[in-house]
Parts: sequence; C-alpha cells; structure tokens
Amino acid sequence: MKLSQRLDKLPPYLFVEINRKITEKKDRGEDIISFAIGDPDMPTPPHIIDQLCKAARDPANHRYPETAGLPELCLAIARWYHKRFGVTLDPNKEVLPLIGSKEGVGHISFCFIDTGDIALVPAPGYPVYSMSTLLAGGKPYFLPLTEKNDFLPDLESIPKKITDKAKLLWLNYPNNPTGAVADIAFFQKAVHFAKKHNLAICHDAPYTEVAFDGYLAPSLLQVPEAREVGIEFHSLSKTYNMTGWRIGMAVGNTRMIDALFRFKSNLDSGIPKAIQQAAIEALTGPQDSIAEHNTVYQRRRDKLVKALNDIGLRARLPKASFYIWARIPDGYTSVEFTTELLEKASVAVTPGIGYGSAGEGYIRLSLTLPDDRLDEGISRLLKWHRAKQK
Ligand SMILES: Cc1ncc(COP(=O)(O)O)c(C=O)c1O
Repeated sequence: MKLSQRLDKLPPYLFVEINRKITEKKDRGEDIISFAIGDPDMPTPPHIIDQLCKAARDPANHRYPETAGLPELCLAIARWYHKRFGVTLDPNKEVLPLIGSKEGVGHISFCFIDTGDIALVPAPGYPVYSMSTLLAGGKPYFLPLTEKNDFLPDLESIPKKITDKAKLLWLNYPNNPTGAVADIAFFQKAVHFAKKHNLAICHDAPYTEVAFDGYLAPSLLQVPEAREVGIEFHSLSKTYNMTGWRIGMAVGNTRMIDALFRFKSNLDSGIPKAIQQAAIEALTGPQDSIAEHNTVYQRRRDKLVKALNDIGLRARLPKASFYIWARIPDGYTSVEFTTELLEKASVAVTPGIGYGSAGEGYIRLSLTLPDDRLDEGISRLLKWHRAKQK
C-alpha cells in the first residue's frame, strides 16, 4: 500500500496530539483540568434540541439531504445576517450551509490553490488555513500577528513577489488564538488590498457572537465592496453551543460560493435535514442564550486573566472569543511551559507554537470549562507558582 505524498506534508493535528497526552494521563487516574480545547461546555439550548428531536422523527428527514442545504435554512441564514449585521444576502446565490465551518474552510483552498500558488495566512492562526493550502499543493505565506500591531496583519509589508503569486487572503476576527478583534476600517483596508492584488478574501468569523462588555463584532460583509472579493465563514457551533451537531455556513461572493458548492457537492451529500431544521430554530428562535453564555464566559475571563497576570504571565482581557492568549515568562519555549503545567500542576493549556512559529512565547487558554473546574484550575496554577517562588 502506498499513501499519497500529500499526506506527508501534514504534521500531526495539534489537538489530536494534546488530547492523546491528556488521555494517557487520565488513563493513569490523574485528574487533569483542561483549558486546551475551544468547545463550549454548556449544552445546546433546549428549544433547539426539541426541534431536532421532532425533526428526527419525521421520515421525510431520514433520506438524503441536498448538498445546497434546505432553502428555508438559506433564508434563515440570510435573515439572521440582516438582523445581526444589516447585511442583505440573496439566499439562493450568496448563502451555502456547511457541515460545520471547518468543512468549508478546508475545502475552499481546493477551489483556488493550484500547485505552487500562495495563500496569505495569519500566524498564529487556526491550523486549517495552512494545512488545506498544503493539501491543495500550495504554500502558505505567513502574516505575523503581533501584540505591537494589535494582532492585525500588516498587509502593506507583504512583498510584491508574494502578492503576485497569492490567490487567497485568510482573515479571522474575533481571532483564534489571540482573542483580538478587527474593526470595519481594517476590513475596508483588506478589501481594497484584495481588489488591488486580485485576491479572494476568506474571512473566518465563527466567534462574532461570543463577545464581552457590550462589544459587537462586525462582519467583513458590512464593507460595501466586500462581496466583490470575499466570503465569510460563520458557524452555529460557538453561537449556540452546537459544535457536536456540525453546522455552519459560507456567505458572500457568488462565484466563490458557487465554486465551493461545486467542489463539495462532489464529496458530500449535505447536512442531515433534522440538523438543518434545528439550525433554523436556532437562528430564528429566542436568542437570549447568547447573552446568558457570554455573561458566564465574561465572569470566567475576568478571573482567569487576573490569575494569569498574578503568576507572571502577560494576558490581555479579550473583547471577544473564548480564548486568552498569554505571554509566558522568558526562558521557556511554549511546549516546555505547557509540559511543566501538565506535569507539575495537572493543568492542560495549548502551546502557542501549535498555531505556527509566530505563536512561540505564548500559550492559549480556553474558557470552555465549568466554573468549578476553572476555579480548581486557577488554584492549581497559583499553588504551582507559589511552590516555584520558594
Ligand atoms: C477560527 C476557527 N474557525 C473555524 C472553526 C471550526 O468551527 P466549526 O465547528 O464551525 O467547524 C473553529 C473551531 O474551533 C475555529 O476556531
């Protein structure tokens, strides 16, 4: 048996590795508190589950769905975008439901990237942008996101020989892993840059609804010319605690939406219809759960950021996303620091290097663990720090 050379280009998926280490320890009976994975701990709101159960009992939903998604879902997505962002979308041409946004984020690279083509990829960044570029035969060109620049890429510093070969520009705000946000003025700059260099923009925006202190994250599509050059990926995963149900969407430029549809319709047969109906309920039903969850995350954010600064890490209060991006003390690599926390405090965090070399010197902590576990995690970190001071 000979596997494709394509697969050799991939390092092991970071989270698989982390989970493996944590599982090993748990199997040995250790109690590990994990801040490592960004997966909401709170359940999907009950009215959404009720609709899912009802839809699951309808035999019409037991048959193949259409890859293009239920027209009623496309309409619900368009209406949600209008209500939330004031953006008007044609549900027939500018909306494509996805099997979770990761599915579309992974597949869009194959619609643009041929061998040797370049994708402009933020670093640190969600690993799928660079991995899908590599799988499609292309090369990621990393755009450093630095604290000095508020974790926004400096587009003007990209050399001409790179922009000449680049086809895609990846953006992600509110950002994983840094928790940074971008304003409309930045999106405007990005759209003008993309038009000037004939690039397509993919804005990955699954965290717009996880926001604190009254902050309201914008959509790329609020820039009037954005749909000439870009699409936005969004998701029900983080907004409605629906990571396990696998449903998201791409919206925006019709050519990009059509290309993604053509690609994926050859590979998948759509999203189970009962899940699409649950998604319609999520998008059109009561929205109170979003604010309720944000209140919980905000309380956790405040406690954790304070504790991290108390133990000598430098962490900012993020305005959005459920991630804390913390600068580790000098003298450690992020993997060394992560390993020390796992071994000495039984606390799991994600090493920044897992998001690319620009993530070195940082760790990422997620707020998606129950309050009592978060409190216990914080007291373990404080205890570990006190012991080190002695
Ligand atoms: C930046 C980013 N994009 C996309 C995804 C994938 O989300 P989904 O559950 O919609 O596939 C994640 C999940 O963690 C993410 O952090």
